Amino acid sequence: MELFHLQTKNTSYAFTVLPTGQLEHLYYGKKIRLDDPTVLSEKAVFPSGNCVVYDRNIPHISLEHRMLEHSSAGKGDIRQSLVEISFPDTSYVSDFVFQHAERRRGKEVLTDLPSSIGSDEEIESIIITLKEKHHDIYLQLNYSAFCESDVIVRSSKLINHTDMTIMIESLFSTQLDRDDIDWQIMTFDGHWGRERTPHTRDIGYGRSVVESLAGCSSNRQNPFFILKKAHTDEDVGECLGVNLIYSGNHQSNIEVSAYDRLRILSGIHPTHFHWPLKPNESFQSPEAIFSFSIKGLNCLSQQFHTFINQHIIRGEWKNKERPIVLNNWEATYFNFNESKILKLAKEAASIGVECFVLDDGWFKNRKDDYRALGDWVTDTKKLPHGLNWLSRQIQSMNMSFGLWVEPEMINQDSDCYRNHPEWAVGRLDREASLSRNQRLIDMSNPDVQDYLIERLSQIFEEAEVSFVKWDYNRIFSDHFGSTLDHQGKFTHAFILGTYRVLQQLTTRFPHVLFESCASGGNRFDLGMLCYTPQIWTSDNTDALDRTVIQTGTSYGYPLSAISAHVSAVPNHQTRRLSPLNSRLAVASFGVFGCEINLNDCNEKQKKEIAAHISLYKAYRKTLQFGTFYRIMCDRNQVRWMCVDQLKQSAVAMYFQSRNPVNVKSERFITRGLEDEGYYSVKSVPFDMSILDFGDLINYVSPVHIKPNSILHKTVDMFMKVKSEHENLQAYGDCLNTAGWALKQPFVAGLHEESRIMFDQSARLYLFERKEVENS
Ligand code: GLA
Repeated sequence: MELFHLQTKNTSYAFTVLPTGQLEHLYYGKKIRLDDPTVLSEKAVFPSGNCVVYDRNIPHISLEHRMLEHSSAGKGDIRQSLVEISFPDTSYVSDFVFQHAERRRGKEVLTDLPSSIGSDEEIESIIITLKEKHHDIYLQLNYSAFCESDVIVRSSKLINHTDMTIMIESLFSTQLDRDDIDWQIMTFDGHWGRERTPHTRDIGYGRSVVESLAGCSSNRQNPFFILKKAHTDEDVGECLGVNLIYSGNHQSNIEVSAYDRLRILSGIHPTHFHWPLKPNESFQSPEAIFSFSIKGLNCLSQQFHTFINQHIIRGEWKNKERPIVLNNWEATYFNFNESKILKLAKEAASIGVECFVLDDGWFKNRKDDYRALGDWVTDTKKLPHGLNWLSRQIQSMNMSFGLWVEPEMINQDSDCYRNHPEWAVGRLDREASLSRNQRLIDMSNPDVQDYLIERLSQIFEEAEVSFVKWDYNRIFSDHFGSTLDHQGKFTHAFILGTYRVLQQLTTRFPHVLFESCASGGNRFDLGMLCYTPQIWTSDNTDALDRTVIQTGTSYGYPLSAISAHVSAVPNHQTRRLSPLNSRLAVASFGVFGCEINLNDCNEKQKKEIAAHISLYKAYRKTLQFGTFYRIMCDRNQVRWMCVDQLKQSAVAMYFQSRNPVNVKSERFITRGLEDEGYYSVKSVPFDMSILDFGDLINYVSPVHIKPNSILHKTVDMFMKVKSEHENLQAYGDCLNTAGWALKQPFVAGLHEESRIMFDQSARLYLFERKEVENS
């Protein structure tokens, strides 16, 4: 028996070839030494139960109870199959068996799909070729092991060398069979404004499904999911995560069979997908990635974070600190003109913003969201001097200029639609359904792709952009591509078209930082991250909600990808009030930016934001590329921490949702500091408004002050309540194991040594490694 054994720093993945020709999965988990596949190959001498005997000459092998690397329909493996094809005579039984294997360093970069990248030294690959027993049809299984990040990448490819057209009914990217089923599944689900909320449930017999039929990877269910044991928490225990490098409809099936075998299939959703494969054509699936840890969920997340930063993000922005942007959307919505923008930009520059992003509304006729998508021509009513002039004005303020676009969409009220109604997705003879008053433009049509590449290139050049926010504000309906020979291709061909446009534009504009967005985080996936190093996480900028959304997102994606802005209160999405320092703290765990009308902020608020921006700049590398830990994320408290790669400095956040009264004293236990290191710990100070204490002021005031009266506001101008000052030094092992005792929370009276907390109060703590002081 031949052994295939891929190894990463901490994991092993092994399989072999059965005498029947299928590949038997042997093991995936903690790194082991294995040189003989028979040690792990399933032992059998009799056929089991009433299973199908695949080959009467080898009666003990049935495919139903084996762990397999691949499966197809109709030869006894009655679980869902990796591949299903149908033939011109409508039959659909296929049977792929091992033909040959190739081992190599490095891996292939896919051509039409985004894929993982890395040097030959970092990657070890195996390419297995299987042949359909009765036809010249080949199934290629590609495996690549990324040593340092402990990630395995898999994909499948079908090649048709027959003279007939076959139909691919489904082709998953990966199949992962296991012989343990005591897993819980964590999924990241939601909708607009509540993206990637983590949910955990037990898996059971039958199938658990993670999927999207929205046309995009979607905020409904992210393609990323985790399997964990019941006892696994953030710091200990076995867990396994799976994700796809793909932005379209996806499905993952987690199936428990009657033989207590687990099967994971992950890839393009088979619904709405039928792909005719002509003679001598091939079809490549997207790549699936998976990672395993025995050290809990933080470790698993960190493996994905490293992988994404090193092997998904590419180009000039790889490992490069991201600029602090101010985006005018929540400050102005569609209602702006040149002078308003310049006034806002001037304020932005004065507080340390590095890039000004002009959001929706800059193009002709775009006074609301009913019109103009597709045209991409500057509105000279709003911007009489044009985009180039505006961009130069912004650049003269020492900021770079960014622009919002939504290329994959079209409004019926646009010149583009009037000239090319056939470019809108949907049949010309039917009325299409709208969402946000718009339709999808048919990205599967090469003419549309070429139009967008040229039009956007001209705009990007004219506007001298350094940043592009690439939006996508509706999901699919009326699926139809007018140039396709088969509508079963539509959903996938649309995504391939989007990828081609993104590939061309990111190649033409290598210096530009692209940020993707889809009504907030409706397309937060690894496919987009191959072109856009960061993604607008959610339109919901409320600090409390963001603690949930950013926690959920962090399970699968690094902070360098999580775009997070401080915004106004009452919050535009929730109407909730939260203190400015809390909003700043939450938005700092990611790529920090501003989404606030600075012209409406008072001097004190501007000063606080400016001070925070300079603090963020000082710790930016740690907050974007450090090692991230979820210390606590329960119903009332969120504690996050980022430690820089060399463990010299760190930032931690404490956030509480509701202010509990008369509770036990607390310690803050850190993660990730060097046990041997000696650290200073300091809280980031801030001032609290007297107004926030309401009529409690009368507890200390010699004269009665009516809450919110002019007198109250006048006192507030001159008197502030200062936050407590944590300032201590301790060894890393003490902080990581026992923590330090936080100051007592405010109970009944004010004291400079007490910690005054409200609903949604937050604290930031800074850690610096120091020389040990000898006494
Ligand atoms: C979407 C985005 C927002 C904003 C608007 C503009 O909703 O998520 O950030 O860009 O579109 O129309």
